[in-house]
Amino acid sequence: MGEYGSDRGQGEGQLRPDRQDEIGEAARALASGGLVLLPTETVYGLGADAADPAAVAAIFEAKGRPRFNPLIAHVADLETAARIAVLDERAIALARAFWPGPLTLVAPIRDPAAVCDLARAGLDTVAIRIPGHPLARAVLAAFGGAVVAPSANRSGRPSPTTHADAMGETGTRCAATLDGGPCAVGLESTVVAVLDGPPRLLRPGAVTRAQLEAVVGPLAEADDDAKRSPGRLALHYAPDAPVRIDAAGPQVGEAFLAFGPWPDGEGVFNLSPTGDLAEAAANLFSFLRAADRTKPVGIAVAAIPLEGLGEAINDRLRRAAGFVG
Ligand code: TXA
Ligand code: MG
Repeated sequence: MGEYGSDRGQGEGQLRPDRQDEIGEAARALASGGLVLLPTETVYGLGADAADPAAVAAIFEAKGRPRFNPLIAHVADLETAARIAVLDERAIALARAFWPGPLTLVAPIRDPAAVCDLARAGLDTVAIRIPGHPLARAVLAAFGGAVVAPSANRSGRPSPTTHADAMGETGTRCAATLDGGPCAVGLESTVVAVLDGPPRLLRPGAVTRAQLEAVVGPLAEADDDAKRSPGRLALHYAPDAPVRIDAAGPQVGEAFLAFGPWPDGEGVFNLSPTGDLAEAAANLFSFLRAADRTKPVGIAVAAIPLEGLGEAINDRLRRAAGFVG
């Protein structure tokens, strides 16, 4: 990766040659203003050409988003990211440590045409990341420019972590869809603003606070403005059934998302029988959906420890339960 050092890769590997056709098709669909269902290592994204305001508007329409929120621009490599955003040395250090991977950096925009005003919601900053999923990276490399992609769910619903779930949300609106298998991480990327002052955690996610602080030192807390940003709204990620968190167990009629040892039974979905937070994160959204499909009176969720990935899991669960952050 040129001046930025080696490509550390995550989930790299040779893509089967028969997928080159699909990759080329997806890149052409993007270039002609279409929407593309894009698998990433975090969640499935609904992608469009970041430079094309009509294509970006189609994302908001397909998601049924009530208002225009800023989107994340996905790019293939650090050179492209640094052409689009102003990445200072702290941003570069974070990029080197976690890209390709589940980290989004918010930085001043350098090339406003590359990520149009609508995609940035008129801000003079841009959210940008290099995803780790090899199919996503191949499409981005073939396309060449930035692809904005929010999670592929309809507004307010859980993010899709499988191709089937994504098809059920917005997939039918897409000119091309790619099946990249179940998402390895299962939670959205961590969003960190690298602007004036210390880097600021805007959305907890797959890269933990401790991992970030090991690279750039203590983070600033998100202020109230940041908490009002769309990924931080209450009743986000919500299934149809009401969600009750920190539950000791299910009440009559409730489905139960357990964590740690728990007897199997009807309506029980164990996020991780061994109490592993990475496994629980990967299962979270698909189990919320599976529990919802049993049409319970509610979904009770066991307490999840707050350490490490638990911060992001608890953030999503609190929003699914409708608590203001
Ligand atoms: O893992 C992910 O991040 C997935 C996959 C598809 O990449 N994408 C995703 O996008 O979660 P979305 O649109 O659901 O969330 C974007 C988050 C929101 O919380 C938004 O407020 C924040 O990024 N964001 C985007 N641009 C921003 C900016 N300029 N300043 C502050 N926050 C920004
Ligand atoms: Mg989302």
